[in-house]
Amino acid sequence: MPEKSLLTDDLRAAIGGYFLRYPTKQATLLPALHAVQEKLGFVPPEAVEEIAALLDLQPAEVQDALSFYGFFKQDRPLGKYRMWVCRSISCEARDEEDLLQYLQEKLGIEPGQTTPDGRFTLETAECLGACDYAPAILVNDVLHEEMTRAKIDGLLDALE
Ligand code: FES
Repeated sequence: MPEKSLLTDDLRAAIGGYFLRYPTKQATLLPALHAVQEKLGFVPPEAVEEIAALLDLQPAEVQDALSFYGFFKQDRPLGKYRMWVCRSISCEARDEEDLLQYLQEKLGIEPGQTTPDGRFTLETAECLGACDYAPAILVNDVLHEEMTRAKIDGLLDALE
């Protein structure tokens, strides 16, 4: 373990808990990455070796998984609120107010970026499974349906 470990004892214990529920240590890679991102706000490159050592994997295997799944961030911590704007066909078709553009203007960031105050990360998403309620936006784990610019104003006020 490096002198200053990024994986805290709590985090190591949480990941160790997965070992009991999966057939091999290696099979816990995705839940382990989720746990690290949830705790640290991202999965920094410096954590890759530590995760690999914990799961008996090569660092390149951990990095491959991180690169494959766009869900994980490595460059800087996510904002407190991660906003996913659906860009699939139903939402695109019913998005008369160009909600992504509106959010970009309101937050002053592009998709993939986080506001300087660390509150919001803006993302684009494929279908969120709420096509009947398009356009849809997911904020962390909460789905917001039939969105409009006015509803976005209310949502951002509520989250401030
Ligand atoms: S297309 Fe947006 S939720 Fe399905």
